[in-house]
Amino acid sequence: MANNEKTAKFSLGDMELDLPILSPTAGPDVVDIRKLYSQGDVFTYDPGFTSTAACESAITFIDGDKGELLHRGYPIDQLADKSHYLEVCYLLIYGELPSSVQLKDFESLVTNHTMLHEQMIHFFRGFRRDVHPMAVMVGVVGAMSAFYHDSTDISDEHQREVASIRLIAKMPTIAAMAYKYTIGQPFVYPQNDLDYASNFLRMCFAVPAEDYVVNPILSRAMDRIFTLHADHEQNASTSTVRLASSSGANPFACIAAGIACLWGPAHGGANQACLEMLKEIGTPDRIPEFVARAKDKDDPFRLMGFGHRVYKNFDPRAKVMKQSADEVLELLGVENNPTLQVAKELERVALEDPYFAERKLYPNVDFYSGIILDAMGFPTSMFTPIFALARTVGWISQWKEMIADPTMKIGRPRQLYVGAPHRDYVNVENR
Ligand code: CMC
Repeated sequence: MANNEKTAKFSLGDMELDLPILSPTAGPDVVDIRKLYSQGDVFTYDPGFTSTAACESAITFIDGDKGELLHRGYPIDQLADKSHYLEVCYLLIYGELPSSVQLKDFESLVTNHTMLHEQMIHFFRGFRRDVHPMAVMVGVVGAMSAFYHDSTDISDEHQREVASIRLIAKMPTIAAMAYKYTIGQPFVYPQNDLDYASNFLRMCFAVPAEDYVVNPILSRAMDRIFTLHADHEQNASTSTVRLASSSGANPFACIAAGIACLWGPAHGGANQACLEMLKEIGTPDRIPEFVARAKDKDDPFRLMGFGHRVYKNFDPRAKVMKQSADEVLELLGVENNPTLQVAKELERVALEDPYFAERKLYPNVDFYSGIILDAMGFPTSMFTPIFALARTVGWISQWKEMIADPTMKIGRPRQLYVGAPHRDYVNVENR
């Protein structure tokens, strides 16, 4: 960040302030309003943070107008095409692509931490069988702080590192166990001669009674889904993790807070909601009815998988996801999958409609991901846990960046108070 000598003038009545302007390496300039309250006695008001940079970060950058997403400077489509999830994890956490030795060491470190503390397995059994797997994820990841005491001291860099590796390594095991629990099948333990994505597929779909061979094309598609979800700047769940961590809370509790935030349908829950919507539409002839509902201000219905706070162009992740959907469905011999046909036609109709064009609403990452996961055999309730699994590295990278920043303060927004002014208590008999 550079302080570029430009200032913004702020005046209110007789008061005039020069506010510094900070220049990022990419993106719009930022007006530094930190002194506004102490020197000007006013707050700023920005619900939803539509104009507010909440932190300084060097990890991920989105150019919403161009439809570009960079991780440490590298475009997401190049990473999705040429890299793989664990390499992207390394890049996000440490800032540079690893050498082959660094990559090998990192992969074996993660692989050696895939098992859960055996006692945690009993913890799963406290949930109802019909639990949503996201509820299990929130509970079990939060409970990691009770099982891994030796990596909860955030002032110790080594403990932070151990917590990070544990979270990345164990998240697929937790997500797969959450799934197995809800379908009443035995848990499948990780098998460490498999790569990260194959291990996850095996833990989800293998049963002890039969051999299970992971299809390499499905494993590659799974890895790509992980890569496409790895990080996304200061979104709601990442900001939640940062805010929770700013109080000094332990990493497992903070990541559990991020998972809880991700669950909502406006964020990570959109992938489940989108596939359910596509299936409800069912056939292309019903698309106009749903598009009309999405445009109707009196109807709360929205086209799930459409629109984004930052992208005002194609979400670059959606482009890769669409291509992946075609490949996976062809491989599985279901290229005429009716849900994919509805999705493609809905995308075409919406993009030609002035309502969506004027508001710059394009398909986002969730529009096609559910179709792939559905074809792989995942139930819709597992879509958001898979998003959470993949986003864990983003949360961790942002958490580590924040903790290491010497200027870090507890996050403490102010408010525009609209409640009753001071008044005196009235005894109940006098009310
Ligand atoms: N369908 C119909 N209209 C929409 C949609 C949609 N999906 N999204 C936005 N709009 C309209 C909205 O009604 C508003 O219209 P008007 O200006 O006439 O009032 C305008 O577009 C701007 O919408 P907004 O709600 O102010 O935009 P936002 O930046 O606050 O919301 C969003 C972004 C992603 C929450 C929203 O687009 C949405 O609800 N999309 C559907 C849910 C979804 O797919 N979420 C996944 C996001 S990507 C994955 C992730 O990051 O988690």
